[in-house]
Amino acid sequence: MSAKRILLVIGGGIAAYKSLELIRELGRRGIGARVILTKAGTEFVTPLSVAALSGEKVYTELFSLTDETEMGHIELSRSADLVVVCPATADLMAKAVHGHANDLASTTLLATDKPVLMVPAMNVRMWQHGATQRNIAQLRADGVTVMEPDVGPMACGEFGPGRLPDVPRIVAQIEAMLRPRQKRLAGRHALVTAGPTREPLDPVRYISNHSSGKQGYSIAAALAAEGARVTLVSGPVSLPAPEGVTLVKVETAREMLKACEDALPADIFISVAAVADWRPVKAADKKLKLKGEGKSPAIELAENPDILRTISHKKKKRPALVIGFAAETHDLERHASEKLARKGCDWIVANDVSGDVMGGLENEIALITQAGIDRWPRMPKEAVSARLAEKIAEAFAGDADGLSLAAE
Ligand code: C5P
Repeated sequence: MSAKRILLVIGGGIAAYKSLELIRELGRRGIGARVILTKAGTEFVTPLSVAALSGEKVYTELFSLTDETEMGHIELSRSADLVVVCPATADLMAKAVHGHANDLASTTLLATDKPVLMVPAMNVRMWQHGATQRNIAQLRADGVTVMEPDVGPMACGEFGPGRLPDVPRIVAQIEAMLRPRQKRLAGRHALVTAGPTREPLDPVRYISNHSSGKQGYSIAAALAAEGARVTLVSGPVSLPAPEGVTLVKVETAREMLKACEDALPADIFISVAAVADWRPVKAADKKLKLKGEGKSPAIELAENPDILRTISHKKKKRPALVIGFAAETHDLERHASEKLARKGCDWIVANDVSGDVMGGLENEIALITQAGIDRWPRMPKEAVSARLAEKIAEAFAGDADGLSLAAE
């Protein structure tokens, strides 16, 4: 892998001093950092300490004749593989949302054609303010990756979300975003399920769950980015089909199973969908009516097919790699290991959903394989997907630790 380099924008907040540790940690891993220090940033760290650690000239001025002749601000914005704003202050994010270009940092963010990562840090009230939350939603909609801050005591004496994430978490996120897409899954067919299923009671009512489909859709996108041909079988969600992915929309668990079986053969099957365990035995063909007199209709339920188990146990056309998900609230790893055996799959992605993971933007998972348990730090769902796609690519390239794939 050729040496990677980031453009680091250091905003003006008390957490700015931690960006020095970040530069050092990145340097240890062979990742260079060219730094823009905002005017407010210079109140917290000096250009000299940043230059000493990064080993490079530090940029602070938009209208600097010497800087412009050496490296113009447009060139600077494109001189790295990734732009990282750390700490991303409320002010810097607001500027980026509105496309301001009145200093070097904001101009660079507007001019760049590279992926952007924002690592916010601010007072808890500022973080929770509607304006900041609206800005973050807009930045994400614009394709910027915004990390969730840590929760804890703050320099200002308050407690809550707003602390800069730990440096190792930031490094893991940067490394995930810098990883080259080698298209190592070219020629492979991946089948992914996502979203909830919907089990009808009558023409207007159904049993379902809150699955958003975000993790499954982003896994499909990551596999496509690795070069796989991807079929995504999805229950009802309102997400667009990821680029280059064939989307098959279904409603019920039985339709989902049929769509999966129709899509075989596949090399990889990943069951991310939150399949409803039961369905009403009979869906009424007319809307159920109130019976009055306090009587409510009895709904008889039948068990749905277990799609993951069915595909795992296929005699013919079993995908070489079958991966299940296990959302648990306690004894995560024990339950997930049991599930691996019960479902007959090769890997289980286990996540603890007792916190704010469900419906959220970040996930903290453990990957359970025959080789053991690999615990990953908390990261955005897209980063989980990229890392999983990478593990799968390694498995097919034959360099996954201890993994034996079923006969290909
Ligand atoms: O047993 P549990 O629902 O916790 O298992 C979760 C895993 O099994 C997920 O990968 C989910 O997609 C899959 N599953 C399935 N069909 C079902 C129930 C769960 O494929 N009916």
